[in-house]
Amino acid sequence: MKTGIQKIGVMTSGGDSPGMNACIRAVVRTAAYHGVETIGFLRGYEGLVESDWVPLPTSAVSNIIQRGGTILKTARSVTFRTPEGRRRVYDNLRKLGVDGLVVIGGDGTYTGAKTLLEEYPDLRIMGCPGTIDNDLYGTDFTIGYDTAINTAMRAIDKIRDTADATDRLFFVEVMGRDAGLIALRTGIGSGAEAVLIPETPTDIDEIIALLERGWKRKKSSSIIVVAEGDDAGGAFAVAEKVKTRLKAYETKVAILGHVQRGGSPTCMDRILASRLGAAAVEALLAGRSGGACGLLHRDVVEIPFTEAIKHNRTINPNLLRLVDMLSC
Ligand code: F6P
Repeated sequence: MKTGIQKIGVMTSGGDSPGMNACIRAVVRTAAYHGVETIGFLRGYEGLVESDWVPLPTSAVSNIIQRGGTILKTARSVTFRTPEGRRRVYDNLRKLGVDGLVVIGGDGTYTGAKTLLEEYPDLRIMGCPGTIDNDLYGTDFTIGYDTAINTAMRAIDKIRDTADATDRLFFVEVMGRDAGLIALRTGIGSGAEAVLIPETPTDIDEIIALLERGWKRKKSSSIIVVAEGDDAGGAFAVAEKVKTRLKAYETKVAILGHVQRGGSPTCMDRILASRLGAAAVEALLAGRSGGACGLLHRDVVEIPFTEAIKHNRTINPNLLRLVDMLSC
């Protein structure tokens, strides 16, 4: 591939997710394979504004494919949100001779890349979807989601043991400030009685009715998975509302929190990160820019940042129905 690209930059931004390191590794190794040098900007857009970077020879990414977090760190940059901040990013990239950039992150990261390209169209930027929330349009899965749902599911398996032993009802809160995709799949995988998500209105009466039906059928314990951004509130708020009216069960709350963001990525996440990191570099080398790489129906695809940002990821109603059917 001959496109005149000699040096590319890579950074991770927004909430970290397991597999970001595997993606950085893929970027560095793919670039090296094509004879291109890579540098890594630290703390997302902040590193681009401040020209805070590290060289990334192939040896710098040895032994990181299995590590959670991100070796490049991540942060939210206030300065980048200003036109002056973005001017500094442009100047820094030009000074450093960086001809292409790979940004790894979520919605905010893509929005930043899109704004930068609108102001400086001569830059070349590609994106990889790194977030545990799986809430990006244009990819079936985001890097880190599979690990996060497996972490949450394993935690709920443990909660189920004690819930069963003590005949209790547990409200388990999982991450997802704006999206219920972690809650939905985790709920199905852990056999939850109900899943409460921001995308659908939560009806407390319905939950109470469901739990009462279960109690009558001699169901001695129950698990309800609540996304942190549910419209009825988090797990504590929902538990409070249910508890006052349902005396059958002793009720407990467990908040899984940031444990879902860490840990060694699953094989699925490592492969996804490797494929998309390599695709982003090869897209830059082929002269393309402004695209978010994703995986749709097993194939690597690219959609414009504008599209990825504009559309909300929708919830598959069949999965919601499955929760209802399997909890009877
Ligand atoms: O990574 C996405 C996410 O996990 C959301 O689901 C969650 O609400 C948010 O990050 C919390 O991020 P932080 O604690 O870093 O602000």
